[in-house]
Amino acid sequence: MTSIKDSMAWKVLQNHHDAVVGLSMRELFSGDGNRFENFSLILDDMLLDYSKNRITGETMRLLLDLARERGLEARRDEMFCGKKINNTENRAVLHTALRNRSSRKIIVDGQDVMEEIRDVLARMRRFSDKVRDGSWRGATGKAVTDVVNIGIGGSYLGPMMVCEALKPYQRSDLRPHFVSNVDGSEITETLKGLDPETTLFLVASKTFSTLETRVNAETARAWLTGKLGEKAVPKHFAALSANAEAAAEFGIDRENVFEFWDWVGGRFSLWSAVGLVIAIALGMDRFEDLLEGASEMDAHFRTAPLEENMPVVMAMLGIWYINFFDAEDHAVLPYDRYLSHLPAYLEQAEMESNGKSVTRNGEPVDYITAPVVFGEAGTNGQHSFYQLIHQGRHLVPADFIAPVLSHNPTGDHHRILLSNFFAQTEALMQGRPPEEVRAHLAGKGTDEDEIERLLPHQVFEGNRPTNSILVRRFDPRTLGRLIALYEHKVFVQGVVWDINSFDQWGVELGKQLAERILPQLGGSDPVSGHDGSTNGLINHFKKLRAG
Ligand code: F6P
Repeated sequence: MTSIKDSMAWKVLQNHHDAVVGLSMRELFSGDGNRFENFSLILDDMLLDYSKNRITGETMRLLLDLARERGLEARRDEMFCGKKINNTENRAVLHTALRNRSSRKIIVDGQDVMEEIRDVLARMRRFSDKVRDGSWRGATGKAVTDVVNIGIGGSYLGPMMVCEALKPYQRSDLRPHFVSNVDGSEITETLKGLDPETTLFLVASKTFSTLETRVNAETARAWLTGKLGEKAVPKHFAALSANAEAAAEFGIDRENVFEFWDWVGGRFSLWSAVGLVIAIALGMDRFEDLLEGASEMDAHFRTAPLEENMPVVMAMLGIWYINFFDAEDHAVLPYDRYLSHLPAYLEQAEMESNGKSVTRNGEPVDYITAPVVFGEAGTNGQHSFYQLIHQGRHLVPADFIAPVLSHNPTGDHHRILLSNFFAQTEALMQGRPPEEVRAHLAGKGTDEDEIERLLPHQVFEGNRPTNSILVRRFDPRTLGRLIALYEHKVFVQGVVWDINSFDQWGVELGKQLAERILPQLGGSDPVSGHDGSTNGLINHFKKLRAG
């Protein structure tokens, strides 16, 4: 097995790491008055400041050498052209085609996929317009007031995150809801207060075989038909799927099936028919603005030199920390309440894509791939887990994301919010050295013994890396750009790690075992076919349920 760790670029980076690991960002800033200008990028109103990273110009040069050595540019072009780069499922990876706003043809298996894409977009427009203007009527002649998207994973996280992020653009008389978890409490709580006569269900599932989604859709259908009868289904159900046959078998009117294709990965599907809930909640024009924004980031990713390429720079910084500093976590910290679901969305985008341990050819990798992603909207995180980022032993690189303008310019809230946004990255970088702590405590009149006792607790090492992303305002276009930025970051990292970022076999085993266990949960006979712990847990469950 030849590992990328044996490659020349990796070895040079390893040596470089050993030479610069002790560098302090404080010193780097004081030694370079242009550090901000040298390590920041602008795309329209989107600023990426990556100057608060443990890098020099040489670091970036070597990281980009690694990207080049891994053939990044060629692999990127293969993705955009529709080559079957998802080699374990023999599929193209073309979520970028869904937002191709140009007249460029994209050929898969000898056919231009753009025709079908435009066709579905046109159908989405007609359907969403009808729902929004009230001309789509339910079975009893009433207009829709509530749209329930039933789907999980990529058929939930993307549209849910976008609807929440763009809530200020929604109408109050047309509300989106999301049911994903198979936990019956979720659908029960969602349906409480909804009126079947004015509720539209969108069953979002690429495969249309996902158990959670099927069970939730059956429950929704029983709720609807229990009140309005079987005849109501075509007026209250639509499907978003790459498996139109299965959707039709479920009883959804063919007219109401919006298709997408096997070359759209589930976690990249918000740009496809899975975005119908977005189009209904925000209007098709805004959905298209979202596509437009993503398309702008696609163009940037395809054409900008690697040195000026935002997704490439972010990806390579991630690799720098994950593989050379052994930093296994990555925090995503949006200072915008509407982006509160972005961390959950990126958990899937990053960890389902790159949480792999074999190369594209099936050989074991001997380096970490994919960080553990977590996050929370600011300033909430500051009052919970930031302590660990500031003073814990872990090195947790973090992305801070904020809009300059708030959708709710109430009082002084936004300035206070943003002062925290700026202060946190400064604090993480600067830290607080012993002499500053001493001076601070002495200034408060603390005696010498007490100062010495408190000193180790109040010293902040600093030198904690952050990226800051600042935009004018989170509108559909800007959000589209941001999401595509992260998608491409994940792609670049997958290329460098030589893994297939587009399959997810790891979720299969649990699904299969759950199917085996499901029938065993009935009856009172104890089970014995599993390991001791699983037998014990199932039997305890049966005992408590019977009791
Ligand atoms: O969790 C595995 C997965 O396949 C995800 O990749 C996907 O987003 C989710 O299940 C839902 O799949 P589907 O859209 O086919 O119901």
